[in-house]
Amino acid sequence: MASSTAATTGTAHVPANDAAGATAATTARATLVLDPAFSVGPVRRRTFGAFVEHLGRCVYTGIHDPGHPTADEDGFRGDVIDLTRELGVSTVRYPGGNFVSGYRWEDGIGPVDQRPARLDLAWHSTEPNTVGVDEFMRWARKAGVEPMMAVNLGTRGVQEAVDLLEYCNIASGTALSDLRRAHGTEEPHGVRMWCLGNEMDGPWQIGHKTAEEYGRLATETARAMRMVDAGLELVACGSSSTSMPTFGEWERIVLTEAYEDVDLISAHAYYWEDDGDLASFLASAVNMDRFIDDVVATADAVRAARKLTKRIHISFDEWNVWYLNASASRAPEKDWPVAPALLEDHYSVADAVVVGGLLISLLRHTDRVHSASLAQLVNVIAPIMTEPGGRVWRQTTFHPFALTSRHAAGEVLRVKLDSPTHETARFGETPLVDAVATHDADSGEVVVFAVNRHTTEPVTVEVDVRAFGALDVTEALTLSSDDPYARASADDDTSLAPRPNETATAEGGAVRIELPPVSWSVLRLAPAGA
Ligand code: AHR
Repeated sequence: MASSTAATTGTAHVPANDAAGATAATTARATLVLDPAFSVGPVRRRTFGAFVEHLGRCVYTGIHDPGHPTADEDGFRGDVIDLTRELGVSTVRYPGGNFVSGYRWEDGIGPVDQRPARLDLAWHSTEPNTVGVDEFMRWARKAGVEPMMAVNLGTRGVQEAVDLLEYCNIASGTALSDLRRAHGTEEPHGVRMWCLGNEMDGPWQIGHKTAEEYGRLATETARAMRMVDAGLELVACGSSSTSMPTFGEWERIVLTEAYEDVDLISAHAYYWEDDGDLASFLASAVNMDRFIDDVVATADAVRAARKLTKRIHISFDEWNVWYLNASASRAPEKDWPVAPALLEDHYSVADAVVVGGLLISLLRHTDRVHSASLAQLVNVIAPIMTEPGGRVWRQTTFHPFALTSRHAAGEVLRVKLDSPTHETARFGETPLVDAVATHDADSGEVVVFAVNRHTTEPVTVEVDVRAFGALDVTEALTLSSDDPYARASADDDTSLAPRPNETATAEGGAVRIELPPVSWSVLRLAPAGA
């Protein structure tokens, strides 16, 4: 099936930035029609992946903090594991990120006191190698997540990738598998998903390559890795953002070379509010929709040109809100600290609404987006924050992720959305409301995820669910605040959590809910009387 976006038509134009005090004569109205027949594809658990990179305090004092009161025998914080589970994370990409392009995985195995400390050029830090592949796999098992590994195609190549695969996935009887066993891990790690490098299109990347150079290296690495295990799922690097000058051509050239040898191509995107333009920021999912559609079109064009049948899918393995220039992204030049506080963005309600909107985009492309990773999990542009040795807390962005992961089930539905629009500086005329729905045929539950992107006005959404028979509202939760820039903290990470939305009603096949300005909502519906 071709990649899908919600069918959206505009009914009325609403000014983007009505003066806060202006009262609209009537609340703007959007309509949403749902039908179980219109499935885009299954809800994929891998849509709810995250990312742990050796960067800042993500690993050290993030997932790993041996002196912490909740630390286990391996030094992993129990409170972080608990919140990772509450967040509903499925896969975790590791160990980078830019970090992986200079990483020697062998540094992170064996007795910890014999491991070398190394310069981490990507983040101008010192990597102590206290945590390596075996520790991460233990953490992943404890957190109940599937590991997704990246190999270094920046400073290294085919041999080191195959060596790491042998160390991880071969049961026994070879030098590297027996080395793993000697290090205390009897059973193979069994990693299925592997990223062939990271952001190799970016000039900032150690070992940055042209599309032709990378396409060859990715192909040769993939072929060798498949000689070890034909069943791996391999991800080629796509573009680091749609604003890369090579975007589009990069995908075409890499896939022309690697199409038969890889399964997925990556996409990375970060969003932030620029110059006080909240309306454009809230519409960030418009960019994500176009990004996905363009990569799908390019991959399918290569497929046609090469006369192939299989389809390439997307691993959206870095996405989030990231204020690139607001928080430190490099340690001071004179210093090479261990685990400095880098990229510790502090998220607002508006940021959480954008995160919820981006999840809507990922879900409605479930036919082609087969995996995604929120970047990152802890401390570094993260939904979970820690104090070294101290408290753990949820950022505002934690909630839409956790609730979408918890309640999206069964099939993703193609919805017919008719929303008023407003003008945004970045995307032109944009629907105020965006939404997606899922339907679980087993339980009968229908769940709608929706955002109101108006900066000051509410919108009433009327949901036509006649195709399902009568439904009741079982739960309606909305994340919003009078102050869209309000933030959670270690002292209070609950006041800004989604609250029951008392406006939700259901009568026969008609459901109605009012969405406040700058809000994200989840609306759960079940067969009446069930
Ligand atoms: O997630 C932070 C960084 O963003 C990653 O290391 C890199 O891949 C991307 O540029």
